[in-house]
Amino acid sequence: MSYARLVFALTLCTASAGLAEELQPAPAGRILDESCDEANPCVKTLRCKDGVCQAPLVSYPTYKVVHLAAVLTLLFLLGGLCALAWADALDNKKVVRGLIIAHGVVMLLAIAGGFGLMARLGIAHGTSWPLWVKLKLGLWLVLGAAPMLPRRMPQRALLWMAIILGLAVMAASFAVNKPL
Ligand code: HEM
Repeated sequence: MSYARLVFALTLCTASAGLAEELQPAPAGRILDESCDEANPCVKTLRCKDGVCQAPLVSYPTYKVVHLAAVLTLLFLLGGLCALAWADALDNKKVVRGLIIAHGVVMLLAIAGGFGLMARLGIAHGTSWPLWVKLKLGLWLVLGAAPMLPRRMPQRALLWMAIILGLAVMAASFAVNKPL
């Protein structure tokens, strides 16, 4: 590509990016530190406290990092338990107990992060939740009971690994696609 064409293409991109930015509608609502009330709410990412728009204590990205870290660790721990079952090493009580306790802790972090994300997305508690959230809660309950599978039927460890991974991918796709 000749130098002239390259410069032309870059100028075009920057111009259209600048234009796109120009055309971006300003987010609806009052912005940071502006006064707010029922009739004049803040933009979605802020909360109206004492009549002033303020940044929330915990932001959407922070909740998402907590949620994702928790669900990734959950898969890690369940994978470890299935691997122990596969290796016929579930008699190592100390390791199994450690995995089960950690599983319980990250289950709580996953749901705390999930509820925080819902709050930041404006899905208030006490309102009817979209079906994709209810489905995710169902999958969370199943993944909560999942440690029983490799412990009760260790001979099917590989099958439980596949099922657990499938359920997690389903939960993730519900969050990304919000199908219902
Ligand atoms: C344990 C199973 C779960 C897995 C594997 C999982 C996975 C994920 C993933 C990968 C995302 C990020 C999607 C994105 O980047 O857009 C996400 C977002 C989210 N999850 Fe979960 N999640 C689980 C459980 C839950 C539960 C129990 C709740 C509700 C209490 C929940 C509520 C949410 C919400 C509200 C979002 C944000 C969606 C958005 O940003 O648009 N998740 N989840």
